[in-house]
Amino acid sequence: SANFSARPTGKNGLSFVNDQKPAVNPPLWLLAELTYRCPLQCPYCSNPLDFASQDNELTTAQWIEVFKQARAMGSVQLGFSGGEPLMRKDLAELIGAARGLGFYTNLITSGIGLTEKKLQTFADAGLDHIQISFQASDESLNAALAGSEKAFRQKLAMAKAVKAHGYPMVLNFVLHRHNIDQIDRIIELCIQLEADDVELATCQFYGWAQLNREGLLPTREQIERAEQVVKRYRERMAQSGSLTNLLFVTPDYYEERPKGCMGGWGAIFLSVTPEGTALPCHSARQLPVKFPSVLEHDLDHIWRHSFGFNRYRGFDWMPEPCRSCDEKEQDFGGCRCQAFMLTGSADNADPVCAKSSHHDKILAAREAANRTRTQIHELQFRNRVNSQLIFKNS
Ligand code: FES
Repeated sequence: SANFSARPTGKNGLSFVNDQKPAVNPPLWLLAELTYRCPLQCPYCSNPLDFASQDNELTTAQWIEVFKQARAMGSVQLGFSGGEPLMRKDLAELIGAARGLGFYTNLITSGIGLTEKKLQTFADAGLDHIQISFQASDESLNAALAGSEKAFRQKLAMAKAVKAHGYPMVLNFVLHRHNIDQIDRIIELCIQLEADDVELATCQFYGWAQLNREGLLPTREQIERAEQVVKRYRERMAQSGSLTNLLFVTPDYYEERPKGCMGGWGAIFLSVTPEGTALPCHSARQLPVKFPSVLEHDLDHIWRHSFGFNRYRGFDWMPEPCRSCDEKEQDFGGCRCQAFMLTGSADNADPVCAKSSHHDKILAAREAANRTRTQIHELQFRNRVNSQLIFKNS
């Protein structure tokens, strides 16, 4: 799933009857994390560190039942993610079922395991949108980051095939300190591939990315330089009438106010893990909060009534400085997972906020980014051996 972007998603999905009591709207976006299996080993993967201890996967029929329940509630968009969703042999069947229910379907893939034949099968099943993630703009750096020699050529071939099948070409590059200085070459590659949409997303620090944060966080200078390059390309493309849409997402570690993570807790986003745990964000399983299983409860009950989905919904849970902050309706106190990872309590304000008494953790991470000399081979790669080791030692 590359590095899932937990950035703001715009207007949140809660309608407020008054300041404290949100009426719960349906989850507009369902993310089906079909599997944690993946042929790559990206050290910035947002999957949980202990993924190797989670081998169970919902069956085809169980996934389709989840889709039915979500659609009945009013969900409109369904993302297939992982791990690598192509590892599921029933992917075409799942796409067909989702499309038949009326979902807009989106496949988020590394492209590894994709073939012309599968593309045709997915197109026949009604898949609406494919996003392919790249690690870098050249073969050797891509191989070093993905832990696979063949990945780059396969991705290029599949990116071209996706376009040839009439899909919009959507490329995603996860940026970090080891590839952000190549941003001009990355954009050139996207232009060469005739990408329609390009997401240049600096990695968000969850899962394996958080474990490797010191070796991944770019410096402020790197980000400022990258912003200049993106700006130049946008101007050049506007002049030439070329239509590539360049989205550049900077890391919140250089902000003074937090992101409105997931558009608010339990507001518009619902994620289901491979074994069926329902989560309000892809990263919440690490929190000391019990989240329900789709095998035990129906989705409507989970979304509206479960403890986990109500834990940080609305504003009642907020302590200071969020409670009296006039920006709380934009940022909801920031990211609960980041607050937990950096302060030990998900009840705290996200320490990205300069008003947080834990903001020094963010400042220290910025300083560490200036000091570190971590090389790519020193990062902890996301693979089963490392996952089992971490799980054993935790
Ligand atoms: Fe932000 Fe979990 S990732 S709330």
